[in-house]
Amino acid sequence: MGILFSAPQYEFNIIREEWLQSVTQIAHSGIFVSGPIVSKFESSFAAYSGVEGAVGVGNGTDALFLALKALGIGPGDEVITVTNTFIATVGAIHQTGARPVLVDCDDSYLIDFEQVKASVTPRTKAVIPVHLYGQMVDLREWLPWAEENGIQIVEDCAQAAGASLDGKAAGSWGIMGCFSFYPDKNLGALGDGGMIVSSSPELLTKLRKLRSHGGEVRYQHDIPGFNSRLDSLQASALQLKLPYLDEWSDKRRAIADWYETHLQDIHDVFVQKGLYDSRHVYHLYVIRAKNGQREALKKHLQKKGILTAVQYPTPVHLTSAYSFLAYAAGSFPHAEAYASEILSLPVHIALTEEEVTMIANEIKAFFTLNKQ
Ligand SMILES: Cc1ncc(COP(=O)(O)O)c(C=O)c1O
Repeated sequence: MGILFSAPQYEFNIIREEWLQSVTQIAHSGIFVSGPIVSKFESSFAAYSGVEGAVGVGNGTDALFLALKALGIGPGDEVITVTNTFIATVGAIHQTGARPVLVDCDDSYLIDFEQVKASVTPRTKAVIPVHLYGQMVDLREWLPWAEENGIQIVEDCAQAAGASLDGKAAGSWGIMGCFSFYPDKNLGALGDGGMIVSSSPELLTKLRKLRSHGGEVRYQHDIPGFNSRLDSLQASALQLKLPYLDEWSDKRRAIADWYETHLQDIHDVFVQKGLYDSRHVYHLYVIRAKNGQREALKKHLQKKGILTAVQYPTPVHLTSAYSFLAYAAGSFPHAEAYASEILSLPVHIALTEEEVTMIANEIKAFFTLNKQ
């Protein structure tokens, strides 16, 4: 048996009995979409995040899109984000009609704040910092800057449920925080799901309308809206998983420590380090294989039954989908260089120290054989 890259099925086994009971209850109640179970999870997640409220939606992409719509962002506006993100961040901006303005990351893989500042124009309405791999962007300097410049910060927390900075949760720093509950996320549903958290009562009300055809009351449509709702079966699974989130994040951090201990002395490997006062939740544990050895290392591990991934092989500005933004190759040297070096190793709650040691030993063996 090989080593899986992620393993949401192990998490499911922990909540299995209670979740199956709740499925029966939901089936009897007949309330499958929205309703009291969704509202309960929204309150729990808002409390966990230290914000006033939370609005459940269909997925993380919709969470970002609806957050931007709630700010009135559309054609003629610009929204800045980072090029090394999952394509959904940029897709959500594009879907509003606004122009995505991309910047590079720094050596922490996170959005480079200096470049954000340099990219502001009179059309800039918002910035989306992406808490990539589970580590928060250092937003401490951002908030006073954003306020001074009238720019809204919408956090992409898809990979950062459970993360915090100075003890303040991801999603509670910007005007809104957007989460994905895709099954392999740190807090994952058994299907698609998403959430927007905020402490602005006006925005929360607007989001509740936008997600449900423009009104909170059935057949009363106050504004043009969309259909993007969280369903009860997902909300009940998420409610059951939320109490485990901190423990599971601790396990992910322990795995990262084990990897670091084993890998830090390998010359051709760059290990990711948690930075400053943040609680990194290692949605992904990403190393860099230098000197063009990534693909060969990936194949070597696969042969040994160890599954890895690359998040992400192409920075958004070099994808066909966003070639119309007209950024040339070479525009963002950090993101472009890292894309050919990064490799995500398995991180999930069922992984043992023995397995991590085994993976690390295979990586060591590869570099011993291929000494440059
Ligand atoms: C950084 C980032 N943003 C947004 C999303 C979109 O979330 P979803 O897949 O739930 O639409 C993801 C999901 O993979 C993500 O990793």
